[in-house]
Amino acid sequence: MAFSTLITSLENKIYTITINRPEKLNALNQIVLNELEEAIKIVYEDDSIKAVIITGVGEKAFVAGADISEFIKLKDDEGAALAKRGQDIFSQIENCPKPIVAAVNGFALGGGCELAMACHFRLASANAKFGQPEVNLGLIPGYGGTQRLSMLVGKGKAMELIMTGNMIGAEEAKALGLVNYVELPENLITKTKEILEVILTKSPLAISKVIEAVNAFYESGKDGFNEEIHLFAQVFISNDKKEGTTAFLEKRTPLFKGN
Ligand code: COA
Repeated sequence: MAFSTLITSLENKIYTITINRPEKLNALNQIVLNELEEAIKIVYEDDSIKAVIITGVGEKAFVAGADISEFIKLKDDEGAALAKRGQDIFSQIENCPKPIVAAVNGFALGGGCELAMACHFRLASANAKFGQPEVNLGLIPGYGGTQRLSMLVGKGKAMELIMTGNMIGAEEAKALGLVNYVELPENLITKTKEILEVILTKSPLAISKVIEAVNAFYESGKDGFNEEIHLFAQVFISNDKKEGTTAFLEKRTPLFKGN
């Protein structure tokens, strides 16, 4: 499928979605959001895709936020719909049964930081910068930032970052737990693929249940421990569990089929 603001490629079962609006630092306008939604739909439906990388084109920006120029065109009563639309798409990413990793290659501000946080985990290039600068516009984050940043870095630091609008660099983001690794820009995608290739040797069914179980911790009203029991029971009856345990005892590499 051809997109106008995304470049997509599938290589070794890893689907890379590159946001491609360099002249606006890959800002998320409605076209990018629509195309991102479509690309994520493809991820859900296409069995040849086993894992996903989301990144931005070039070395300057991952995504510099929601497209500010569109804000002034909207009517005052359209705020809720705007935030809900972004949240719905990011929730599809967060709850995708296949691993989705953000390779943050520059500015990840506002909606860009929120997009990275909706992914299952994040790697950053050494020049990456993170921030939620919405207060500078008289706004607050609307695509899940107040919630996911608090979950990832803790309430106090999230409050500070969102109230000041300050940017932090990649190393600080790593120290806070916002990103897992900091890489030279030229190594960012290679390192991200290396991690995904390890994950791809595991049972896809087990990986999907890991995502569900860990996400349950963060879902209000859900008893995560109970959810874990329920999901453990599902993998316990799977062919992949049979294959994994048998292969271990037979001292061979398991061949997982995802069922
Ligand atoms: N929405 C729309 N356009 C954006 C944008 C955004 N979030 N971020 C950057 N752009 C555009 C700029 O307007 C500029 O367009 P122009 O060349 O037509 O004027 C282009 O991208 C390049 O950005 P510029 O500001 O010239 O680059 P810079 O290196 O001087 O500064 C940033 C980089 C990221 C610090 C700066 O662009 C910025 O602060 N962007 C907004 C970040 C933000 O507030 N995001 C949250 C939105 S809710």
